[in-house]
Amino acid sequence: MASSPAPSPSRIRLLSEHVANQIAAGEVIERPASVLKELLENALDARSRRVGVRTRGGGRSLVEVIDDGHGMNRDDALLCLERHATSKLRDTDDLRHLLSYGFRGEALPSIASVSKFLLQTQEPGAIEGTEISIHGGKLLSVREAGLAHGTRVEVRSLFYNLPARRKFLRTEKTELSHLQHILLLAGLARPDVGFDIVHDDDAPVRWPAGQDLQRRIASIFGPAWGADLVPVSGEDGDLKLTGFIGRPGVSRATRQEQFLFVNKRPVESRTLHYALQEGYHNALMRGRYPVTVLFLDLAPEDLDVNIHPAKREVRFHDEGRIRFFLKKAVQKALEGFADAPLSVSLGAGPGSDVPAPSVREIASPRYGIASRLAPPPASPGREAAPIARTPDEALPPRQSDLPIPREETPLAPLPRPGLDPLPSAPLRPEPEPEPDSAAAASPAPLGFRLLGILAKLYLVAESPEGLVLIDQHAAHERILFEKLLDRLRRREVESQRLLLPVTVELPPRESAFLESEIASLQAIGLGIAPFGARTFVVDALPPMIANTKHGANVPELIRNLLADLQEEGGETRKERRLSEETVAKKACRFAVKANDRLSPPEAERLLLDLMACHLPYTCPHGRPTMIQITKPELEKKFGRIV
Ligand SMILES: Nc1ncnc2c1ncn2[C@@H]1O[C@H](COP(=O)(O)OP(=O)(O)OP(=O)(O)O)[C@@H](O)[C@H]1O
Ligand SMILES: [Mg+2]
Repeated sequence: MASSPAPSPSRIRLLSEHVANQIAAGEVIERPASVLKELLENALDARSRRVGVRTRGGGRSLVEVIDDGHGMNRDDALLCLERHATSKLRDTDDLRHLLSYGFRGEALPSIASVSKFLLQTQEPGAIEGTEISIHGGKLLSVREAGLAHGTRVEVRSLFYNLPARRKFLRTEKTELSHLQHILLLAGLARPDVGFDIVHDDDAPVRWPAGQDLQRRIASIFGPAWGADLVPVSGEDGDLKLTGFIGRPGVSRATRQEQFLFVNKRPVESRTLHYALQEGYHNALMRGRYPVTVLFLDLAPEDLDVNIHPAKREVRFHDEGRIRFFLKKAVQKALEGFADAPLSVSLGAGPGSDVPAPSVREIASPRYGIASRLAPPPASPGREAAPIARTPDEALPPRQSDLPIPREETPLAPLPRPGLDPLPSAPLRPEPEPEPDSAAAASPAPLGFRLLGILAKLYLVAESPEGLVLIDQHAAHERILFEKLLDRLRRREVESQRLLLPVTVELPPRESAFLESEIASLQAIGLGIAPFGARTFVVDALPPMIANTKHGANVPELIRNLLADLQEEGGETRKERRLSEETVAKKACRFAVKANDRLSPPEAERLLLDLMACHLPYTCPHGRPTMIQITKPELEKKFGRIV
């Protein structure tokens, strides 16, 4: 009789609590900023009046949040570290009435499973509190401790037990910018709560408790930012809208300054974005986005926040009603400004002691979104320090030390046999006006007589010594490079906004390289900023590149520029930052227009500009800009002399 085969061992196993927590952490805890978000939300849910935040190393080494909320007793403190332990939700019905930030009961155990975690908590009036230490999900100690009332959570060495996750963290600077963004959202969401913030050894930032939204906006961004906002309000039954929006003409190339809160929760919502865009209608140029700090309040049962573990998205049950309501409120707020010009202005309002930034400043990269993760420049006397440094604040001020020869003598008109004189043709090879360019202001005497252009590429000229051939591209590159360098030194680099911002996705190594060099790229006028994992958004280009064929294909430009810069950096010099000069040098390559046939006046101007350069005889990469064949050489070639 055939016996039936022995049953195979069971393949399915229940995951241990520890593994389940780590998996949950994968969804909720992406980076130090996610830790900060969860801890802040817990502190605010605990009805705190003041919250202290300390971070080190972009949050990789430490994220610490201290609050003065209701704290926990010993049992709750132990329980809160179990999965699905929450005080905020009892049954699914509660989900429909949620007003707390948290409800899933998984943030703390997730964080504790991927870090060195310390919780200290004490209820008001209690004699003793509880201190719990957990490393990588393992409980190390539980003890009684005399503490202040409230809760303190310390999260050190995030992902220390998950090297693969740790490796994917960005540079300290990038992680810090994410932390700052989370703080900014919390600070705006709750102007009534005081925040004391210290990153590394920086000066503390303080947003006082009990502020109204307007004061909080001024504390966070400086008074100038708020001066261009108009109040919005609206009410329709249980729907309520409050906050501020930019007046017409105040817009940005990205949505980074659109702060939207639903029931005090910062959210991303397409419905709200559309409604805003519709509300602004033609008060906004194409491809521009309004600036907003808007609070929509509605009955919690009309809203679903349980869509994403990190609760970034919300869904409205009646999307149409919300859209119409917001659109109308925005239109009403903008009515009084129907005829305002559509120019971008960040000027301070009357009564403000902050000087309005100049037009040049507005065009400068500090106002590009690259630096808009951070607020606009601060006035010296404001109460809160800026959240992050703008790229050009990181530069030490420098004096121009590049002597560019200036001569007053204008160049006598050159006889141009065989060439059409085109006196009124534009003299500048690149389109942007450069009225203060040294070369444009003071033509140098050349002693060259332009004879013509060879193969659309070489200028042919006669010099007192013989024949000169000038490489049009190399010459142009030299001129652009010196101009850019001069602007860098005078800290007056300009950038030209793109009609629509462009996102560029890069492979990890290129992306990491770009992140480490991003400040230098911003310094030369490239408006570029990280935009999620391995994605960057570009909203402005140096004017010299913007109008070339390279400027028309931004992703390719970025990739090519990076490839050039990586070559320059080389594998062995990983730790060394490229200088702005190096970046400028590489960037100029993309500013040169290929195969442009120059008109005679343009060719002449190119020669003048080149000779006004500090180092006219080589391009920035060291290739010659011109070669000369002397008369004796010619005579030798023709056998006139031996
Ligand atoms: N700072 C705090 N003060 C007082 N109680 C806290 C604090 N932080 C956490 N708790 C308690 O611990 C519980 C668990 O916190 P945890 O963040 O893990 O979950 P949650 O906030 O309930 O939900 P979510 O996972 O959605 O954040 C909370 O429900 C709350 O009761
Ligand atoms: Mg929570």
